[in-house]
Amino acid sequence: MNLFRTKKVEEFLQDLEHGPQLKRVLGPMALISLGLGAIIGAGIFVITGHAAASYAGPAVAISFIISGIACALAGLAYAEFAAMVPVAGSAYTYSYATLGEFWAWFIAWNLVLEYLMAGATVAVGWSGYVVDLLKQFNIHIPPIFSSAPLDVLTSEEKKKLVESGKELSFIEKYLGLHFTGSYVNLPAVIIILIVGIILFLGISESALVNNVIVILKTSVLLLFVIIGFGKIDLANWNPFIPPPGDEFGEYGWTGILRAAGVVFFAYIGFDAVSTAAQEAKNPQRDIPIGILGSLFISTLLYISVALVLTGVVHYSQLHVPAPIAVAVNAMGPNFAWLMLVVKIGAIAGLTSVILMTLLAQTRIFFAMSRDGLLPELFSRVHTKFKTPYISTIVVVSIAAFIAAIFPIGVLGELVSIGTLLAFSIVCIAVVVLRIKRPDLNRPFKMPLVYILAPLGAIACILQMVFLPLDTWYRLGIWTGIGLLVYFLYGYHNSKLSRSE
Ligand code: ALA
Repeated sequence: MNLFRTKKVEEFLQDLEHGPQLKRVLGPMALISLGLGAIIGAGIFVITGHAAASYAGPAVAISFIISGIACALAGLAYAEFAAMVPVAGSAYTYSYATLGEFWAWFIAWNLVLEYLMAGATVAVGWSGYVVDLLKQFNIHIPPIFSSAPLDVLTSEEKKKLVESGKELSFIEKYLGLHFTGSYVNLPAVIIILIVGIILFLGISESALVNNVIVILKTSVLLLFVIIGFGKIDLANWNPFIPPPGDEFGEYGWTGILRAAGVVFFAYIGFDAVSTAAQEAKNPQRDIPIGILGSLFISTLLYISVALVLTGVVHYSQLHVPAPIAVAVNAMGPNFAWLMLVVKIGAIAGLTSVILMTLLAQTRIFFAMSRDGLLPELFSRVHTKFKTPYISTIVVVSIAAFIAAIFPIGVLGELVSIGTLLAFSIVCIAVVVLRIKRPDLNRPFKMPLVYILAPLGAIACILQMVFLPLDTWYRLGIWTGIGLLVYFLYGYHNSKLSRSE
């Protein structure tokens, strides 16, 4: 049994020449925009408020710096790989070339958590914002058609059920979930289907829609920062780091670290740029620009938004689904128009995250199928639209199903843990390849690689450690299913196995 057979970088480059072709239309600006499209979403529009209110207070700005540094380290590793092996497939492809097939499969399975699940997660957040906006126009969607039929059973609820003497059902007992009485989260399904149609039609169309949205959502955040700057009440920043509470992770420095793990979700997506390498005009130069540029812009924006947000309202008021709207509300009646603009910006922002994460997922399946780890169907390119259309249909259907029935909390933490795992493996892989293949042409080199790459891996693993234990169990189950699929299908059908 050869689990660690690697596919040579040269073979990837050969495949690139002879395999199915995608359209090369993306320049450096389009790639930065693609990154921003995938990055700025539920993290800043929804999660920041919770991180400030529960863990870090105004110092959530420091959490953004810490998490941003960890992402920058992983981003540099991604940039080195993406310039060297500019083929679709991102971290999956890089680990196939360095650590071997087993790890490649393992990482790809985690990337499904990052992309497919993130798309579904953000769609659930989108549904919440849209239902809220429609209410403003007196259109009411009943909760049974706009919320998840399954929700997490809190320990309190579980205790009550046990005390009532009622026998727990399988999903209550083993999955910690319960039925809410709702039928389906319809708006979440609808947005995924709309995104699916855009993805089916082509990369140029997807990039165009993305560009428009990126301009809108960055302008909304900038507007918020500029107007809010004048409304900051310095008393809200005092103390900037609230004194630690009784529990670990509650304010103080441990709170800043926990909040860093939570706001990490806001940065997820910069690596989506590397999945579009096969659609970039000049990938070796432009993919590093796209990854690092989008990461840099979003870090600056996030820190500014966090400062203004906690400066305008006291952090204790921010534990709400739409924290930025709360801050706008506090600015006074003259800014009611800004409230509407923020909501529309958030909805648009979340839409592009769904678009970009699902786009990335279809490209990963495309790459895996090209290597024989998934059936050939997944790399079939549509004759007219030049998109991997079967991959798209499968990804969109699964994402719609998940978004229809699961709540945002369960999905979000799984996304973070899967992504952190993928990032840490990429940081390790970049060092391994430097040692194994120093001869390869590297158009972009990670500076101080032997120090920064291990630091990046450690930073990601530390953030994983801070996530709740339940999330680790779910990761374990997910990994188990992945291994089953690999040994039953991928191991025997991979092109490397057949050539052996
Ligand atoms: N970074 C993306 C978001 O915040 C996943 O929505």
